[in-house]
Amino acid sequence: MNGLLSFIAQVVRLKSAMGRLQRYEFKFFVGLIISFLLIYLSFEVIFKNELIRERAPTRTGSSHSSSDTPRSPQITLLLRMPGKVMEHRARYYCDLFRSTVLFWPPSFGKTVIVLDEESQADHEFGEIVINHTRKHFPEYRLEVNYEALPKDKRVLEFPGAPRSPGYNRQLWSSFFFDLYTNDPIIAWMDSDVAFITPVTKSSIFSGTKLRVLGWDCTFHFPWVKQWAITSERALGLPFVADYMSYFPVYIYRDTFLHCREHIMKHWNVSDFEQAFRLFYNDRNMLSPVSVVLSYAWFFERDRYDWNMKLCSSLTEYNKRFPAGASVGPEHLADILSQPQTTFHVPYGEFLSANILISYCLSHEVAGNRLAVCEKHNFSLSDNFYLLHHDLQRVKEIQPNTCAGNNTDYCLQVLDCHYKEVGLEIKQNGRELLWSNVDVVEKLGNEVGLTCKPLLY
Ligand SMILES: *[C@@H]1O[C@H](CO)[C@@H](O)[C@H](O)[C@H]1NC(C)=O
Ligand SMILES: *[C@@H]1O[C@H](CO)[C@@H](O)[C@H](O)[C@H]1NC(C)=O
Ligand SMILES: *[C@@H]1O[C@H](CO)[C@@H](O)[C@H](O)[C@H]1NC(C)=O
Ligand SMILES: *[C@@H]1O[C@H](CO)[C@@H](O)[C@H](O)[C@H]1NC(C)=O
Repeated sequence: MNGLLSFIAQVVRLKSAMGRLQRYEFKFFVGLIISFLLIYLSFEVIFKNELIRERAPTRTGSSHSSSDTPRSPQITLLLRMPGKVMEHRARYYCDLFRSTVLFWPPSFGKTVIVLDEESQADHEFGEIVINHTRKHFPEYRLEVNYEALPKDKRVLEFPGAPRSPGYNRQLWSSFFFDLYTNDPIIAWMDSDVAFITPVTKSSIFSGTKLRVLGWDCTFHFPWVKQWAITSERALGLPFVADYMSYFPVYIYRDTFLHCREHIMKHWNVSDFEQAFRLFYNDRNMLSPVSVVLSYAWFFERDRYDWNMKLCSSLTEYNKRFPAGASVGPEHLADILSQPQTTFHVPYGEFLSANILISYCLSHEVAGNRLAVCEKHNFSLSDNFYLLHHDLQRVKEIQPNTCAGNNTDYCLQVLDCHYKEVGLEIKQNGRELLWSNVDVVEKLGNEVGLTCKPLLY
């Protein structure tokens, strides 16, 4: 695209130099320029298509260059999934795709899906989603990439492995997300999440820092204890917190590379497959999000804005950390200062109701009266769940985060959020169209999927 822009700039410069030319020559020149432009555009289209279908990135790619430097940094919405599994296809259409076209503005950046290279069914699925997106949502740039299996089978299969080879492959891939985009920021999505409220810049950034949420109140769960073990093994440094409580997880692209480099250095190996096998090789489960963000805590703390909630005392908590790495009050947030923007659908089906609530609250602030919303008369307090650190367990947490003295603060946070969204709808033409949801449901039907309705 930058190539095209500079080409146009050249043309404009050329045209101003043309004042001196005769009319006949001028027409000839314009004709020439238009032909060049057409040839250029068709090349762009052809090569982009080829790249999307054929590119199988190498493991060593580490380019820091980013060609996109418009007003705000581009963010790649990135999803790793197995395209041959029907359940995952359904999740993609009914959860992610359907809610993305409602709540994730295409101006934030492209979407990248990473599928299995060796699977014919994945290639077919990739083609279907590209066709559907191009035809119905051309403003959402979508790329599909294919990832080869790791060379060593033992990366995915070993005695006593807590998860299936397919699941382990997702864990493995999570350390390489930087290979699938050149954008400076990656919005790491899980394969079973849906957006629940419009994503705003304020929910992503705090100044120039990327917001991180995390909490330690799940530390008594056996699998979280196991994450702590594998994470500490990987990094040689303590697990900081459970960072699996939210998505998308926004991570600078180069943090992935730095994290791999650190892990390989820690294990004195030059191949990440070897390193991976050294920290994930027994019954203990692994959370790549928690490894990468624990890495960021120790080595790139200032690039991120930490919003953690602890269930133990800070003094007690800090005993585990080396000097200079302790958590301070400035890293804590008992109540989120921005709403969660997604939820894990299989674990929180009841939260689906909030999709319509958020849609209606946004349009109300923008001054749009919609029939579907007038029926309900939603208020900000219907959205209180979104201010919890852990949406999955929101019903079990007592007292409710937004109860009692906290109610005013919660209302303020949600009020700010919806004012930002409402203003964007009015001023920048941010779109929030339920018709997009209908379109994705129809596309899902075309490929044999039926999504549960979101309207009520
Ligand atoms: C995608 O679109 C192309 C071009 O229109 C078509 O040739 C191809 O069959 C489509 N693929 C699928 C899987 O629908
Ligand atoms: C890596 O090598 C260094 C120096 O030889 C050694 O001190 C360290 O224990 C090794 N690390 C691991 C994880 O084996
Ligand atoms: C909507 O809620 C407001 C405030 O709670 C209330 O005053 C109003 O009567 C309600 N309207 C309808 C149509 O239920
Ligand atoms: C709410 O705040 C008041 C005044 O600061 C305090 O007395 C009261 O204990 C608080 N209630 C709760 C439930 O925290």
